[in-house]
Amino acid sequence: MTLAIDGGTPVRTAPLPVGKGAELLGAQEREAVLRVLDSGALFRYYGPVPPREVAAFEEEVAALHGPGVRAVAVSSGTAALRTSLAALGIGPGDEVVVPACTFVASVNAVVLSGALPVFAEVDETLGLSADAVRAVLSPRTAAVMPVHLDNGQVDMAALLQVTRPAGVAVLEDTAQSMGATLHGCRLGTIGDMGALSMQLDKNVTTGEGGVVITRDRDLALRAAAFQDQGGHFLTQHGAGRDHAPEPFCGDNLRLTELQGAIGRVQLGRLDGLLDQMRAAKARITSAIGPLPGTTPRRYPDPVGEGGSGIGMFFDDAATAQRFAAALCAEGVPAGSPYGGLPVYATPAVLQQRTASRKGHPFDCAEHPAPAYAMGMCPQTEDLLARCVRIGVSPAYTDADCDDVVDAVGKVADAMLR
Ligand SMILES: Cc1ncc(COP(=O)(O)O)c(C=O)c1O
Repeated sequence: MTLAIDGGTPVRTAPLPVGKGAELLGAQEREAVLRVLDSGALFRYYGPVPPREVAAFEEEVAALHGPGVRAVAVSSGTAALRTSLAALGIGPGDEVVVPACTFVASVNAVVLSGALPVFAEVDETLGLSADAVRAVLSPRTAAVMPVHLDNGQVDMAALLQVTRPAGVAVLEDTAQSMGATLHGCRLGTIGDMGALSMQLDKNVTTGEGGVVITRDRDLALRAAAFQDQGGHFLTQHGAGRDHAPEPFCGDNLRLTELQGAIGRVQLGRLDGLLDQMRAAKARITSAIGPLPGTTPRRYPDPVGEGGSGIGMFFDDAATAQRFAAALCAEGVPAGSPYGGLPVYATPAVLQQRTASRKGHPFDCAEHPAPAYAMGMCPQTEDLLARCVRIGVSPAYTDADCDDVVDAVGKVADAMLR
């Protein structure tokens, strides 16, 4: 059969669904929004009637994440990272280890905290390699930020063996993986803090939004303070009235009641959504079987991963690129994560450009930053260039899954077999 990329008929012409939580937006969210709108209480801390949506959402997120977990809702995943870094007290003079493969927000949050991002290699999990982290730890390392990419898991057991003896905090960037688990633990609850996102593409969406999760009461209180101008109003606002930290200069990163109400509806669907993605992925991968010349992405716990992506590493980058292009032509979106490039390839990061006129934190005379350059993390660059990811949506029907299988089979027959 002639491949669509060579002028043949594509397997699929109708676009496949690509969203996660967004695919399920419907009557319940509409009812929740109208309920809040009718109440006139759009602000989380006071209003014409006592607001309760964000507070209830926080309680529900905490409960979902297990006993002892506390949750602080904020305005985005990036805000959740910034709030977590602030709660940990991280700032100028500190280094934070981030994976060379992530979304630029992980890096931006560190830079905006005033700390210096230090990049470490990822392995076949597409998450931080514990050995690579060990190699970049320095006396200035204040935190390590494992990123659980695309509902997959970082090998946290191996990572904690490196960070615990070093006394370094662990902030799990769980923006892309809310609800997924690692050996029964929800991602984001294994290190000291976790940052979740509810941006449009995520498992749970409120358009924009984020949550900080932690089992540490003081970190939770500092997070609650930071997102509300540093806690000057914390006693009025109720949260942590008894144990409020001394106020410090903070930010306004508050979530609105409208978002909280939507989040509660979406959160109620989270486990079902993950199971739908896992089932669709299983249907696809079992039908495809192993593809010659490829190695699948590694999951430290295949049962707990969220099923939103099928990742494979080809033996060489050129084949990976051709394979992805051919699949796209067949109507199945596929490509290398982040265009096959490490996060430090982002021009602003590579050139260390910040909003500060002085270039802080990169220009700091006391703690000068080494220049960044392509080739800093060669293993990550190699893995990303050879990686192809096919997305899986909870809205996939069996027929959608079968179209993906047919397209992969057609391209593999032409190119790999
Ligand atoms: C790995 C990662 N970290 C952080 C974020 C930031 O989340 P938000 O867009 O909600 O600010 C994202 C968003 O896509 C992400 O993918």
